[in-house]
Amino acid sequence: MSKQTSTGRITVPEIAARKGGEPLVTLTAYTAPMAKLLDPHCELLLVGDSLGNVIYGFDSTLPVTLDMMIHHTGAVMRGSERACVITDMPFGSYEESPEVAFRNAARIVAETGAAGVKLEGGVEMAPTIRFLVNRGIPVMGHVGLRPQNVNVMGGFKAQGRKRADWDAIIADARAVEDAGAFAIVLEGVAEPLAAHLTEELKIVTIGIGASASCDGQILVTDDLLGMFEFTPKFVKRYAELGSIIGEAVKAYAEDVRARRFPGEAQTYKMRD
Ligand code: KIV
Repeated sequence: MSKQTSTGRITVPEIAARKGGEPLVTLTAYTAPMAKLLDPHCELLLVGDSLGNVIYGFDSTLPVTLDMMIHHTGAVMRGSERACVITDMPFGSYEESPEVAFRNAARIVAETGAAGVKLEGGVEMAPTIRFLVNRGIPVMGHVGLRPQNVNVMGGFKAQGRKRADWDAIIADARAVEDAGAFAIVLEGVAEPLAAHLTEELKIVTIGIGASASCDGQILVTDDLLGMFEFTPKFVKRYAELGSIIGEAVKAYAEDVRARRFPGEAQTYKMRD
């Protein structure tokens, strides 16, 4: 278990210090009540731009705005007290220049209290990562399958399944580390490559559909809870909340239609 600061939260240096240690438990969170449920079990909560799919019903993360990320990060901060909270920089908020990235990342940190930001990209984003870190904003990198790059990649495909593709991914990960990131997400990276990167890099690797040897794991919480009919192949569903909710709402609908709800216990009585 990591030490905590006077704010009670696990810090970025404590996350970074977990390299090669007990694997980090990390999940996505977008709302206060869910953050409260996850907080006792996770060292890090990511306010992922996957909220575009999960909360807003978009078919990609591209329409997600900075304001959405700020509102949801505020909710996650209010719902949690222990986990280190990191926020995704949404598409269009950081690619243009290091200066634009700093302005937007500073808004996230100043307006929400998040400990840092995550951004997608490798070699091409290294100057931006360095710019942010040198100005006091911790950065988590994200290489391999990059959902914000979906139109360039032509879909969501696992990365590094051919040896010929390894060099570019290794160069991206090294560039992110050299630029000063404290951790890196390896998404959809073939198992042996993710294991190799975890061995080679000095920063903590957080795998998603990658390798059990990563320094930590992350999943979209709603996927592991079984909230959707479809879940990606790499997700293990630990619950079937989608069916449980469906059953509960069906029972409520039956009660309403049969005038069994509200019953005696759910109605207010008159007072004189
Ligand atoms: O947006 C997100 O939730 C993510 C994680 C799945 C790594 O980037």
